[in-house]
Amino acid sequence: MREKLEKIKAEALQQIEASDGLDKLNEIRVAYLGKKGQLTSVLKSMKEVAPEDRPKVGQLVNEAREQIEGKLEETRVVLARRARELQLKKEVIDVTLPAKKTNTGHSHPNTIALEEVERIFIGMGYEVVEGPEIELDEYNFTKLNIPPNHPAKDEQDTFYINKDIVLRTQTSPVQARTMEKGKLPIRMISPGRVFRSDEVDATHSPSFHQVEGLVIDKNITLADLKGTLAEFAREMFGEETKVKFRPHHFPFTEPSAEVDVSCFKCGGKGCRFCKGTGWIEILGCGMVHPHVLEMCGIDPEEYTGFAFGVGLERIALLKYEIDDMRLLYENDIRFLKQF
Ligand code: DAH
Repeated sequence: MREKLEKIKAEALQQIEASDGLDKLNEIRVAYLGKKGQLTSVLKSMKEVAPEDRPKVGQLVNEAREQIEGKLEETRVVLARRARELQLKKEVIDVTLPAKKTNTGHSHPNTIALEEVERIFIGMGYEVVEGPEIELDEYNFTKLNIPPNHPAKDEQDTFYINKDIVLRTQTSPVQARTMEKGKLPIRMISPGRVFRSDEVDATHSPSFHQVEGLVIDKNITLADLKGTLAEFAREMFGEETKVKFRPHHFPFTEPSAEVDVSCFKCGGKGCRFCKGTGWIEILGCGMVHPHVLEMCGIDPEEYTGFAFGVGLERIALLKYEIDDMRLLYENDIRFLKQF
């Protein structure tokens, strides 16, 4: 029995000595000291030992256990320290390496242009108002004095949801919605997305943006309209910018005009940018038609007003000298990064 014990002990100590990791060490512990371990099985076979020898054998087993446990602990401490050193070496951080850059995006050219338009009009005391993109035919057309047989109502131009509901073709319906609320005077702009059944090309898209403007008060005249838009053009395109009002027709204004600005590229001499004319068209406008005022519950004898509609993409394209509208919608980061 003594020899057997000595053999177990020597084997155990030798294995502990040779072990190269904490997992291995644990296996050894289980193999010798565990419930089914070798040393434990010696204790279990005690009944075969003569009763007078039992205390002696018991003592020997305990000594062997103590020695094995001691060696296990000693080795565990050494191996654990080695493992930690290895881990620290592996996870070393080089604080001299350059940091990773976080890419922050920035505003889309359309958004930059819109914020500029808003800044200018808010500075003149205007409010920014929103309206629905899915709009009643009544607001998009009827209340703006656009009769049922008007070509704009053709399915070639307008997306219909059903016979009464359309994707708004212009931001002008927000005029009617604002006037109907009955709070006067009105000084508002309304930016937003509009939709037309157009094929995509360099200057057309089935979805684009407009900024509507509306002023209603007592004694508003064409002079107010001209002064306001001239000031807007100067702020938007530069102090030297001149404006030209060309008579035009819009059903909801009378008189109506289209506004050109002097080409800010060549100063009006004529260049590739303004197609040699010296002028660039930027918006439509006019004095709000008395019919429209009446339909929206405003007395045209007491109140007058003006309205205008700017194409937002047009402003962005002009401001940044972009020659193809499609670039604004393709979301190509190489393009967008430039603004
Ligand atoms: N809604 C017009 C369009 O889409 C633009 C416009 C013209 C708006 C004259 C107005 C206006 O408010 O008075 O072409």
